Amino acid sequence: MKIKAFAIMEKNGKAVPFEYERNVGANEVRVKIIYCAMARGDVQFISDHWGDTRFPFVPGHEIVGIVEETGAHVTALKVGDQVGVGYQLEACFECDYCKAGLEQFCPQQKVIAVHSYGGLAGHIVVDYRFAFLLPPGLHPVNAVPLLSAGLTVYTGIMRAQLPPHAVVGVLGVGGLGQLAIQFLHKMGHEVYAFSHSPEKQALIRQLGAEYIPGSGADDKAAVNKPFDFIISTLSVPYDPDVYLKMLRPQGKLCLVASPQQKQPLSLGLLYDYAQRTIYGNYVGSRRDMTAMLDFAATHQIESMVEVMPYSHADQVNEAIDKVSNGKVNVRLILENKA
Ligand SMILES: NC(=O)c1ccc[n+]([C@@H]2O[C@H](COP(=O)([O-])OP(=O)(O)OC[C@H]3O[C@@H](n4cnc5c(N)ncnc54)[C@H](OP(=O)(O)O)[C@@H]3O)[C@@H](O)[C@H]2O)c1
Ligand SMILES: [Zn+2]
Repeated sequence: MKIKAFAIMEKNGKAVPFEYERNVGANEVRVKIIYCAMARGDVQFISDHWGDTRFPFVPGHEIVGIVEETGAHVTALKVGDQVGVGYQLEACFECDYCKAGLEQFCPQQKVIAVHSYGGLAGHIVVDYRFAFLLPPGLHPVNAVPLLSAGLTVYTGIMRAQLPPHAVVGVLGVGGLGQLAIQFLHKMGHEVYAFSHSPEKQALIRQLGAEYIPGSGADDKAAVNKPFDFIISTLSVPYDPDVYLKMLRPQGKLCLVASPQQKQPLSLGLLYDYAQRTIYGNYVGSRRDMTAMLDFAATHQIESMVEVMPYSHADQVNEAIDKVSNGKVNVRLILENKA
């Protein structure tokens, strides 16, 4: 069938109406899209931040919709199911990574923006194993950012294997940061949020953290607290040494984002007197996604969102501009009114 979408035709271009042909394979489902987020990552793909955006590019990698058609081999989902779809749409399910349940490293994986079209469309076709039933209790619109932002920070946090009641920091209180604060708070940790936006203080407290001015190029944030763990969601230049120095011996710095430019790092901070660890986290597996959605439903973790429709390219371009210019303090969700 023909799928109607909005696409960016070239690097830094504007969104225009776009159509493509896509049928449903034996292991696939077609999802009618209801909500799709416009995230920082989408704007970064438009500017080809990582050098691998495939144009035409249909943005949108946090999606909630309803299954409208199932392929011949699909039994786990049925027409009418409400599902969430994230960044990854396919894996081979035969390689060592897939067999180990680490599909995010599958060499045959297909992800939005690099190999496939995203969610600013009427529909998306996805392998049924990457369409996740939303647990009851989550509000579909507030659950949208869980599908990529939530998966990424939850997996990064779980990999740290934190002790109970750890002292933890979140760097940058945007889409990922707001969810990281909530996960860490509900896991029982003492959470500090480094933010360069004083107007977010009330929001930060409401999410379960204490506000600390900082995050960004000019930050001199120094807190007299030995941190067990800090997660950075910053894609602007900053000084990682500042945060490494805040970690107690054996503390961990998890990066889920990075600026485009190379950042200086004092490697000695990784061993001298402290044996600290720095690691990156790339999305998560299907198992992580299910665990994250269950945790979120149990603990009522959802994103605060601003919602606008996307019937016209003008609305999509307005959403792109708002996110590019940092004019939204909460996740911007586009609603399909068609
Ligand atoms: N690793 C992965 O698999 C993965 C998955 C999804 C997304 N990501 C990446 O995660 C990053 C964050 O995404 P997001 O959706 O959370 O973005 P976002 O909503 O824009 O949040 C980023 C935060 O960075 C802080 N910041 C500090 N200085 C800034 C400045 N000069 N301009 C703009 N923001 C500044 C802001 O927090 P304060 O106002 O509190 O300072 C802002 O809210 C993106 O780079 C995205 O590509 C990675
Ligand atoms: Zn594989």
